Amino acid sequence: MKTEFIKIDESSKEPALFKASQVIRSGGLVVFPTETVYGLGANALDEEAVKKIFLAKGRPSDNPIIIHIYSREQLFELTENISLIQEKLMEAFWPGPLTIIFKKKDTVSSVLSGGLDTVAVRMPANPFARELLRLGDVPIAAPSANISGKPSATLGSHALSDLDGRVDMVLDLGPSDIGVESTVVKVEGDRVLILRPGIITEEIIAMVSGISVSLPDDPKDLKASPGTRYRHYAPKAKMQILNPIEMTSQSEKLEKEGKRVGILCTTKNKINFKKNKNVFVLGDREDLDQISRNLYSGLRFFDDLDVDVILCESFPKEGLGVAVMNRLEKASSGK
Ligand code: TXA
Ligand code: MG
Repeated sequence: MKTEFIKIDESSKEPALFKASQVIRSGGLVVFPTETVYGLGANALDEEAVKKIFLAKGRPSDNPIIIHIYSREQLFELTENISLIQEKLMEAFWPGPLTIIFKKKDTVSSVLSGGLDTVAVRMPANPFARELLRLGDVPIAAPSANISGKPSATLGSHALSDLDGRVDMVLDLGPSDIGVESTVVKVEGDRVLILRPGIITEEIIAMVSGISVSLPDDPKDLKASPGTRYRHYAPKAKMQILNPIEMTSQSEKLEKEGKRVGILCTTKNKINFKKNKNVFVLGDREDLDQISRNLYSGLRFFDDLDVDVILCESFPKEGLGVAVMNRLEKASSGK
């Protein structure tokens, strides 16, 4: 299949949106921007189209896909038994980077839900994504636009390098605003369980909704999110996460052993690796929004370089730091 790559600007926007909505409606695959990361979209109500997503990504069939919607009305064809807490969450955070797990209706194919009786839904805030959803007028199933296991795409070029020849269109709107995927939550009884941390943090959910929120530390809870079973966000080289001081000594040690070392660090720490050409600066240590925005470009940077090991600076697990460290830990784990 020939992939059409379109850079979105004022003149290409309207025709691209129109064409992309037609492609979605006729069962094709479109990579489109959202505020978190790029999505690989297909008509969520077309089982054959959804199957194509799994094929294009090489995604395990038991890893369910998030459905993106434009309006609350679209929710009623996907789910039933919406609880009061779910209502509160939607009220507080939609449109925005929060994905909520609902009980699914039979209209949602079990191919999409990976065999589960639930479905994950989110209403993106990105105006371009909203316009595509509005014009397409069908819910859009969209995982992140990367080959399974690799870092998500936060640039159109990331998606193209992974999916060229596997999708009909890639719509490039420049760097994603947030850079890490949406927060995924499940409501259990009267509490909210965070299955995947994101920019909408535990503290924000608790504060805005007055609901008790927890991160799953029990592995049983994590089973509720099939995606967590698989290797994710992984660069080609092995990665180690260290604090800035450990990084310097570890880098010297590895170089003495003849290893080629890649460095993923913050602005201030760069000075410690003057002789190393393979350094990617994520941003200022105090600016987690910037770190998050650059994270996947950083993880992908080393794939084209010949490095044996990547040493990555660690961050405090607070606020958005929880999501950043969650992705880094997954990227560095051997699974
Ligand atoms: O920000 C995002 O959420 C991006 C953009 C494109 O919207 N999408 C995204 O999709 O990250 P994906 O497929 O890469 O990640 C979806 C995550 C996976 O970990 C998956 O296992 C989980 O959501 N998930 C999907 N449906 C679920 C369900 N019914 N129950 C539990 N977890 C579910
Ligand atoms: Mg993904």
